[in-house]
Amino acid sequence: MKALLINGSPKNRNTRFLLEILAEELKKLEINSEILDLYNYNISTCKGCDACLKGECSQKDDIFVVLRRMEEADVIVIGTPTYFGNVSGLVKNLMDRSRMAKMSDMKLKNKIFAPIVTSGLRHGGAEFAIMSLIVYAISQGWIIAGITDNPISQGAFVVGVIQGDTGWRSVKKDEIAKNSVAPLAKRIKELAEATKNLRS
Ligand SMILES: Cc1cc2nc3c(=O)[nH]c(=O)nc-3n(C[C@H](O)[C@H](O)[C@H](O)COP(=O)(O)O)c2cc1C
Repeated sequence: MKALLINGSPKNRNTRFLLEILAEELKKLEINSEILDLYNYNISTCKGCDACLKGECSQKDDIFVVLRRMEEADVIVIGTPTYFGNVSGLVKNLMDRSRMAKMSDMKLKNKIFAPIVTSGLRHGGAEFAIMSLIVYAISQGWIIAGITDNPISQGAFVVGVIQGDTGWRSVKKDEIAKNSVAPLAKRIKELAEATKNLRS
């Protein structure tokens, strides 16, 4: 079982930190993870040429490398900072440019998917970024993992916030976010095992 954890921040900071914790938690459950930093890949904005309707792309850049990694994974996690209530530009380019996979007979279908979002403000639009990722995931035919351990005390998604009670701090001090990663890993594993035959 392989997990691809995509860091959609241009930095190694809050978003990557939560992905690193997830990698550790998945390892405990015997799922190997690779963190892919999107900033290392040159993926241009979609030009809207619609070549992807035939499963192709008119731009020859690193989208092909990243899509190959996504194809090889059972589990895909996209981590993104909230940028104006949505995903980062790096992630948006990945989403748009991966349309060719969808148009190639749903090539990435049945991956287990989870969103991880960080935001500056406690109420700065992070859940819109989550929704954007969920709509994308549904469009790719992915199976979405949320947190299901304790519906009373846990949120449904991992959202890391850097606004604290007394000012700004790293997401490393967001105990709620950190504590939500292990139950997410558990759910990812549960779904990945239950749906293994769909990806073989
Ligand atoms: C261009 C830009 C736009 C942002 N927009 C928002 C926003 O709409 N809401 C919010 O809460 N934080 C916003 N932030 C703050 C980031 O979401 C926050 O600092 C996040 O943790 C950064 O993640 P990183 O450390 O992984 O890069 C924005 C930051 C940048 C650079």
